[in-house]
Amino acid sequence: MTEPLIICENLVKIYSLHQEGGATVEVQALQGLDLTVDDGEMLGIVGASGSGKSTLLNVLGGLDRPTGGRALVSKKDLGRMSERALDEYRREQVGFVWQQGARNLIPYLTAAENIELPLTLSGQVGRSARARALELLELVDLRERMGHRMEELSGGEQQRVAIGIALANNPGLLLADEPTGELDTVTAQTVYDLLRDLNKRLGLTMVIVSHDPGIARHVDRVVQVRDGKLASETVRVQRSDGGEHHVELGVLDAAGRVQLPREYLEQFDIKRRVLIETTREGILIRKPDGSQHQGEHSSLSGGQVEVEEEAMQVPSGLSRFWESVRSVMRKGIGR
Ligand SMILES: Nc1ncnc2c1ncn2[C@@H]1O[C@H](COP(=O)(O)OP(=O)(O)O)[C@@H](O)[C@H]1O
Ligand SMILES: [Mg+2]
Repeated sequence: MTEPLIICENLVKIYSLHQEGGATVEVQALQGLDLTVDDGEMLGIVGASGSGKSTLLNVLGGLDRPTGGRALVSKKDLGRMSERALDEYRREQVGFVWQQGARNLIPYLTAAENIELPLTLSGQVGRSARARALELLELVDLRERMGHRMEELSGGEQQRVAIGIALANNPGLLLADEPTGELDTVTAQTVYDLLRDLNKRLGLTMVIVSHDPGIARHVDRVVQVRDGKLASETVRVQRSDGGEHHVELGVLDAAGRVQLPREYLEQFDIKRRVLIETTREGILIRKPDGSQHQGEHSSLSGGQVEVEEEAMQVPSGLSRFWESVRSVMRKGIGR
């Protein structure tokens, strides 16, 4: 098996905000995030506003340094690189697409001129810049509209120009932060189709942040970030009839902790403590009922334990799992 292109291990990013009067407030944007992305994979990231999605993208793109943990891209440790190496990494290996992609484009220049401009600024001259711009326009399927000024193009077409520019340096990794955030559903679909096409044709690895839970249809895998950590993963599963469907999986962190979805906890009115049983099919987590408080444990299910903050019974062989459940309990579920 080949190494993943991206490896994040216990990634932490803390922003220090200096307030009036000299006080400092710390914001933990990433709180020990673990993630791997394979070479050539198209990964979606979803999560509530403020959960750390953009921070993660900025760290992966070398725009921001991690405070703790590690972020490796192509075996390079972004936290340990010199400023100069990081600069080079950003320039040569990463492409960025932003939500308001068109904001960085010049409205009275044509699509071709907008793509040519950064090429010229990075040192390509005359004919070679023009030829490369045409190639990029072809790649984003805008050749026919190359002579149109930005203000004459639709939102989707403008975003295509922005994607073309992001590809100018032939990056191995494309990072997109809500690239369809300002587009209607139909146009968003065409942008996702283009990204998928580029992913396939160029073998380009992509990490795409989206507010749209429907992104699962467009990418290989979706991870959900909650409070600066991965909470769950949605993967495609092939059905025996040849079709496919999506399955949401909980994520174990490096210490073996798992976060239970808040909706599930609410649905079963589970608060603070859970009853955990091993069954033939797996591990069952449910609301403790009255009888367990008197210490009645069913022997049918093999092992049954009510997990509390302080007292806990540990069946042999499973102690590591219980230990991690207990630490989840200490930290509080669903926050
Ligand atoms: N440059 C910054 N300085 C201070 N706090 C920041 C900065 N960037 C992000 N944050 C904070 O970090 C947290 C995560 O932000 P962000 O990564 O932008 O979330 P998302 O993209 O998921 O909405 C938020 O609480 C946000 O206010
Ligand atoms: Mg964001």
